Amino acid sequence: MRDKLAIIGASGLVGEEFIKILKEENKFDQFEILKFRRNRNEEEAEWSLSEDLDKLRECKFIFNAASSEAAKSVGALLRDGQYLIDNSSAYRMDPSVPLVVPEINAHLISTTQKIFANPNCTAAILCMSLHPLQKFGIKQLIVSTYQAASGAGKEGLTELRAQLKADKGATLSTNVFGYRLGGNVISHNSAVRGSDKEAPGFNDEEFKVIEETRKIMNLPTLPVSITCVRVPVERAHTETVVLDLEQEVSVEELRKIYRDQAGVKLVDEAAKNYFPMPLEAEGKREVLVGRLRKDPTLSQRILFMISGDQLLKGAAWNAYQIFEVLLQKISIAER
Ligand SMILES: NC(=O)c1ccc[n+]([C@@H]2O[C@H](COP(=O)([O-])OP(=O)(O)OC[C@H]3O[C@@H](n4cnc5c(N)ncnc54)[C@H](OP(=O)(O)O)[C@@H]3O)[C@@H](O)[C@H]2O)c1
Repeated sequence: MRDKLAIIGASGLVGEEFIKILKEENKFDQFEILKFRRNRNEEEAEWSLSEDLDKLRECKFIFNAASSEAAKSVGALLRDGQYLIDNSSAYRMDPSVPLVVPEINAHLISTTQKIFANPNCTAAILCMSLHPLQKFGIKQLIVSTYQAASGAGKEGLTELRAQLKADKGATLSTNVFGYRLGGNVISHNSAVRGSDKEAPGFNDEEFKVIEETRKIMNLPTLPVSITCVRVPVERAHTETVVLDLEQEVSVEELRKIYRDQAGVKLVDEAAKNYFPMPLEAEGKREVLVGRLRKDPTLSQRILFMISGDQLLKGAAWNAYQIFEVLLQKISIAER
């Protein structure tokens, strides 16, 4: 009998990408796939999480691509032998749950662990560019983001598409972003933190990136200064990074490091002004890295830009990689 794999949030952007990857990796033959969403869809054999919990209890692997609330309710039900790979922020900063980017910390995936957290998309993409430089000693970083509308789910993408098609003066829904994003650039739509919270003045997205970057990189006190911004791009987040290292490193050395690094693609052709951009990152599992340069006044400071598909390396592909490593470890443990 085949093991059952549940996808919660199967009708969402991340859920759809995960299903696509399972098909591309021929997992539909190996597993029985159950698709859950908020509202039951009987025609397509999809289940509702609230109504069909018994179905979920039969699943060995559960992939959450829905809300943090859904993740918490599933996490509370897990029994021995069930595994949850969670895309929401519910468990990311829980000290007992590993926050995994497999190229960086696959060693944290163990069969005795029930829950694995998939990082915030901006943090996952960023860490892919930081990890190969960790050997030079990372002192501090300053990041600015240019985030795509689909980072806010299917409603965000629909809202941007409607705005891009409409006339400039038209009155349109701004439910997701608060302001018109089409033809505009706006501060990230997550809530700005008040003086009752840590890092007041930063928004929740910025705070998540700071905390999660520190956890993934295992650098708990790393100084991270960040500004998160939405741009009218459908898919793939771009980030500019200013990074201070303990040691000096040449641009040639950086190019070689990124050329050889799995999960990263060097896009750095100054003569053509050809650097990472979201239209080229879209649909790719790798993170594009380029615009590599050294600050002429500070020899240990480097600058670069990255672009990564936040629905893939920032979500579904990273989760699939966790699943693959987990499968290997289960197979070794059962031998
Ligand atoms: N978008 C990204 O770039 C990105 C990146 C990293 C992580 N994430 C995280 O991944 C998750 C999914 O994001 P998304 O962008 O795919 O969102 P989305 O496009 O809005 O899709 C959300 C999905 O969750 C389902 N859902 C919502 N509440 C549910 C509930 N209580 N029980 C069961 N299903 C429920 C929806 O079902 P219906 O179709 O029935 O409404 C839909 O299938 C979120 O936690 C998000 O923070 C997103």
